[in-house]
Amino acid sequence: MIEAIKHRRSVRKFQAKPIEDEKLNEILEAARLAPSGNNKQPWFFIVIKNELSKQEVAVATNNQSWIASAPVVIVAVADMCARSQDYAGLFVDEETSSFDVKRIIRDTTIAVTHILLEVDNQGLGACWCGAFTQEGIRPVLGIPEDKFVVAVIPVGYAAEELKAKPRKALEEIIKYERW
Ligand SMILES: Cc1cc2nc3c(=O)[nH]c(=O)nc-3n(C[C@H](O)[C@H](O)[C@H](O)COP(=O)(O)O)c2cc1C
Repeated sequence: MIEAIKHRRSVRKFQAKPIEDEKLNEILEAARLAPSGNNKQPWFFIVIKNELSKQEVAVATNNQSWIASAPVVIVAVADMCARSQDYAGLFVDEETSSFDVKRIIRDTTIAVTHILLEVDNQGLGACWCGAFTQEGIRPVLGIPEDKFVVAVIPVGYAAEELKAKPRKALEEIIKYERW
């Protein structure tokens, strides 16, 4: 596992080559098996291959046109209703501060990390893209207002070799026993 963690990069240039269905299924399986609070699994994943939809998602994601060059774009969506049906139809967006919104976003980010690591394990590349608003991206994909879009993830065979970005040293981020 540490090899995949060390090897993963944010890939933003892709070959035109499509992704094999078996590889895509393993990537989605990695998301499905992610842990979540109370095992609520509050997530959906939209798999986009259609060129027009990819382009519209790229525009909604701060006009990052390179996103549409990936053969597959996965959109991770967190679902309030997985925690309670009382949320059905309620509006959520970046201003919503309820604890349950934080919990569904927290859980869905774990699944996104699983996706990124399995992408690398399958010899592919991806990038987590978060530069969108709920208002901008939901209508593009017909996502209801009680769902919260967490990540846009273009996936494909990398067309670039990337060096590791720097990280803080362990001494900067680890405290032993207590703060
Ligand atoms: C929540 C989140 C949002 C991000 N949004 C974008 C984005 O919109 N566009 C982009 O090019 N990269 C985006 N990134 C990728 C980061 O820039 C990248 O992870 C960081 O620079 C470290 O590089 P590495 O992933 O290659 O280690 C995002 C990453 C995260 C975790």
